Parts: sequence; structure tokens; C-alpha cells
Amino acid sequence: MDMLLQKTLLKVIVLGDVGVGKTSLINRYIHKKFSHQYKATIGADFATKELQLKDKLVNLQVMGHGGQERFQSLGSAFFRGADCCMLVYDVSLLKSFESLLYWRQEFIKQTDIPDPENFPFVVIGNKIDIDGGANRTVAQRMAKEWCESNGRVPYFETSAKEDINIDVVFLSAATAALSRE
Ligand code: GTP
Repeated sequence: MDMLLQKTLLKVIVLGDVGVGKTSLINRYIHKKFSHQYKATIGADFATKELQLKDKLVNLQVMGHGGQERFQSLGSAFFRGADCCMLVYDVSLLKSFESLLYWRQEFIKQTDIPDPENFPFVVIGNKIDIDGGANRTVAQRMAKEWCESNGRVPYFETSAKEDINIDVVFLSAATAALSRE
């Protein structure tokens, strides 16, 4: 049988504080668009993209939540079957970086995954374009150290606005997700 006919469904969850750019990252990757306007996500964003990874045709499901939602209100269906979790912060907002641990722990709690130590997370420092980095409050070294001490999580810096590292980060998430299949 032609391997390309096998379609693998992979689910990627995108978590992070209000306004860090979860929706923008998803829109940039899936629709190749960016908007300066902030429209709070109510509930969840959902988008899919088909891509070929190695010999597999992958249907990548990307789900982002509204950062102001109470986490519990999303329900377990939101998390069920997740294959990878992206944790996003804004490099100009220290608080959003400090929330990474919270989001990681909440994800683990909500999904009830049996092997959290081996689950593929990806950390994203978004908005690196802001004032050419002059307003940055989280140093790259700090973020890398956090990732190293929280399960050697891969770390990427992105700009949804300037389209920096967007394809790379989603490809990395999809590849990590596929490795669990
Ligand atoms: P919630 O859904 O409310 O949790 O927000 P969110 O995390 O989905 O953030 P969203 O994508 O809505 O972006 C919030 C604001 O940040 C918007 O005004 C975006 O235009 C802006 N933004 C997102 N990504 C970037 C980026 O890479 N650079 C800059 N400069 N602004 C960005």
C-alpha cells in the first residue's frame, strides 16, 4: 500500500497567558496572516493543516485556548488525545514567562497523561520583534535554563508579526508529536 495514503491525525495544544500571541501564531502558520488588533479568544481556537512528514501524510490539528478562560471551563475534550503541547510566553512580559510552569502543570493535570516526563512540550518565546528586542524582559539564557531543567524541552523564539521561526516551531511540534505514534 502507498504509505502516502495513510493519514495520521496529530493534535497540538497551544497554552499560555492572555495576549502572548497564541491565536496569532496559529493564524500565521495556518492562514499566513497577522492582525495587529487584539480580539480575546473566547473558548478555543481550532485550525487544521495537512502536511507531509517523512513518509506520512499528517493532519495537524492545532488548538489554542483563550488565556482569560478559566482553565477548567475548557473541559477535558480540549486536552484529550493531545500529542504535543506548546507553551507560549511573550519575551517582553516576565509574568507570562513565570506562568510557564503553571501551564505545564495544568496540562499534565488535565490530560492525566501517564508519562509526563516524556511528553513532548515545546516552549515558545514570542514577540521578539518588539522594538527590535529593546523591551525584552526575559533573556534567552533564562528561558533556555528553564527548558533544560523542565525536561529538556526544545525552545524557540518567534515573531508571529514578522513571520520568524513559525514554520520551524510547528514542524518541530508535529515531528515530536509523530514520534509518539
Ligand atoms: P488570548 O486569546 O486572549 O489568550 O490572546 P492570544 O494569546 O491568542 O494573543 P493574540 O494572538 O490574540 O495576540 C495578542 C496581541 O499581541 C495582538 O494585538 C497581536 O497583534 C499581538 N501579537 C501577537 N503576536 C505578536 C508578535 O509576534 N509581535 C508583536 N509585535 N505583536 C504580536
